[in-house]
Formats: sequence, structure tokens, C-alpha cells
Amino acid sequence: MPALFSPFTLKDVTLRNRIAIPPMCQYRADNGFTNDWHQVHYPAIARGGAGLVIVEATGVSPDGRITPACLGLWDDAHIDGLARIAAAIKAAGAVPGIQIAHAGRKASAHKPWEGDDHIDAADPRAWETIAPSAIAFGRGLPRVPRAMTRDDIARVQADFVAAAKRARAAGFEWLELHFAHGYLAQSFFSPHTNHRDDTYGGNAENRGRFLLETLAAVRAVWPENLPLTARFGVIEYDGRDEETLAEAIGLVRKMRDEGLDLLNASVGFTIPDTNIPWGSAFLGPVAERVRREAGIAVASSWGIDDAHAANRVVEDGQMDLVMIGRAHLSDPHWPYKAAMALDVPRPSWTLPPSYAHWLERYAPMRA
Ligand SMILES: Cc1cc2nc3c(=O)[nH]c(=O)nc-3n(C[C@H](O)[C@H](O)[C@H](O)COP(=O)(O)O)c2cc1C
Repeated sequence: MPALFSPFTLKDVTLRNRIAIPPMCQYRADNGFTNDWHQVHYPAIARGGAGLVIVEATGVSPDGRITPACLGLWDDAHIDGLARIAAAIKAAGAVPGIQIAHAGRKASAHKPWEGDDHIDAADPRAWETIAPSAIAFGRGLPRVPRAMTRDDIARVQADFVAAAKRARAAGFEWLELHFAHGYLAQSFFSPHTNHRDDTYGGNAENRGRFLLETLAAVRAVWPENLPLTARFGVIEYDGRDEETLAEAIGLVRKMRDEGLDLLNASVGFTIPDTNIPWGSAFLGPVAERVRREAGIAVASSWGIDDAHAANRVVEDGQMDLVMIGRAHLSDPHWPYKAAMALDVPRPSWTLPPSYAHWLERYAPMRA
């Protein structure tokens, strides 16, 4: 069996293969609630055969959403709709995961296809943004955030804890904390965006404090037998990459000691001017380094849409799990196609029997 199709066990959870669908915002929610779009999209994509499906960045508070159309988990009323999604993902044979998030200074923005930029402050749909320091992202996100007080920090950490409890109440078995992509937690870690002079700013230990404390607080309420993971930008491609990676790996080790079970290694996206070497599986060697040096299971993504490339990163020990994002948007049955490409026996059985039965017969009929 190709490595991509070998099972993966983390805590009490076993994925049927190493293919994971990363969180991908749908920008379809209203006041944080799921609707027909989410109720169709997630089960459909889970039926494609991936081992893990992580529901999109879900705001721990209204001000933590990227756009007004992002999902939320700040209210018990959000649990019901997400519970139906978690159950449907599970019924499709995948493990249901969810990413909980606070967007920090990148919040209060238009949907990507409506500009991706900050909503004008005078617009009633806009809200105040917060960040470790009052520094704007720039470009289409020019709003200067309010620098967080200690009370703000405590409030956001409590929101993460409450959202984690609701995620469990909804039946999710895999939790991902969004510590990446220039959102709130990532901007605490980066010296570009964190100019604080208290214990949350300055050296790498202080810049990692918000992440470590949030993780520890969530670990205390998330069941010990279920995976607690984080997505974290371990590199920026901004010219200080060795330093960033060394600091990031140091922090990942501490997170592992606090109970982190797997790291979804990503890019920081903290500042607009970077030199990212886009290309197939470009993060593979970075993921491998984090996996080896931090001694933790690693997932990663970006530009992996070919079955052989996906298989190789697992076979070579660069990643334990491969996140296949946009390729699933273009083909929700990507794992089935990958199974055929990798000569997995009876590849159609990556799909539900209602499809598989006919596809297995279809090939000889066509021949
Ligand atoms: C439509 C869309 C929405 C996304 N939303 C999220 C998100 O909610 N959280 C996150 O961490 N990354 C998000 N991403 C990044 C993806 O998780 C993934 O890392 C990225 O698409 C690269 O993987 P790929 O090349 O396989 O698509 C999003 C990407 C896309 C295309």
C-alpha cells in the first residue's frame, strides 16, 4: 500500500489515510451560523475519501472573524449546525476536525471575491480590530488595530477555551488552533508585528507566551485522548528565515511539552512584502525539519495536488499528513483519483458504496 494510503493514529483517533482537507473558509455564514452551503459542502468533500476534514477558520468571537461571512463558535447556538456537519463527516468515514481562530488585525474584511480588503470603518458592518501592537498590515488592510491590554489577552484566551468546549460539544474529534497566517496569534510571535514592552513582547520566549498560554488553557478542557493541534507559520520568507525557524521550532517544542499532538506547519504571512518560493510541495523540507527537530507529528500543505508528490512527502518522512486544499475544491473525489494513480487495489472503495459499486464495474465495461 502506498504511504499516502496507510492509516495514521494520533491519540485515540485513527485516520483511514494520510490525506487531510485543510481548513478552507467558505465565506457563506451569517452571524457565525452554518447554512445549507456548509451542510452540503462538508459532507460532500468528506465523501471523497480523505482521512481528516478540518472545518474552516471559525471565529472564537465576533471580532475574531476575518469577514462578516465567517463561521463562529462564540455562542452555544452555533453548536447545533456544526454538530450536524461533524456527524456527516464522520458518517462519510473521515475524522471531523475544526479550526478555531482569531483574525487579529486582518479581521473586519470583505470576502475575497468582494475585494479582500478592510471594510471601511464608517460601514456599519465593520468592527474594531485588535493586535499585540498598533501596527497596520498595509496594502488592502490599512486599518491600525488597537494594541491589546492584558484584559484583552485574557478575554481572547477565554474565548478560545469556550470555543474549544463548544467544538467538543459539537462532536469534533480533532481541534486545530489557528496560530498562523498573520492572524492574532501569529502576530504575537512575529517581531514585525509585536513591539510590546511587557511580558508578551520582546524576546522569542515572550513573543511565544500568548500561543503557549492559549494552548495550555485549551489543553485543560480538550479531552486528553483526542488530538489537539495547531497551525503555525514557522517561516516568513522575509530574509530572517533561519532566525524565525529556530525560534519557531523552539516554541513548537514547548507546545509539544504542553500537550500539542501535531503541528500543521505553514507560512507566517505576517507582512505583505515577502519572497515565498511558490512551487509544488515547497514547504516539504521545512516541515521535515520541524518534524525532526521538534520531535512532533507534522502536517503541511501548499501546492500539493499530484498523487505522487503527496505520496513522496509521506514516504520521505517530511510529513505525517498531507493537506490537500484547492485540489479538493476542483475535485472532491481527489483521493479516489490519487488511489488510481498510485495503483491502490480497488481504488473506487475510497468512495462510498453508492458510487464505488458502479465505478468498479465501469472500468471493465469501458475496456
Ligand atoms: C478558499 C480557501 C480558504 C482558506 N481558508 C483557510 C482557513 O480557514 N484556515 C487556514 O488555516 N487556511 C486557509 N486556507 C489555506 C488552505 O488551508 C491551504 O493551506 C492552502 O490552500 C494551500 O494548500 P493547497 O495548495 O493544497 O490549496 C484557505 C485556502 C483557500 C483556497
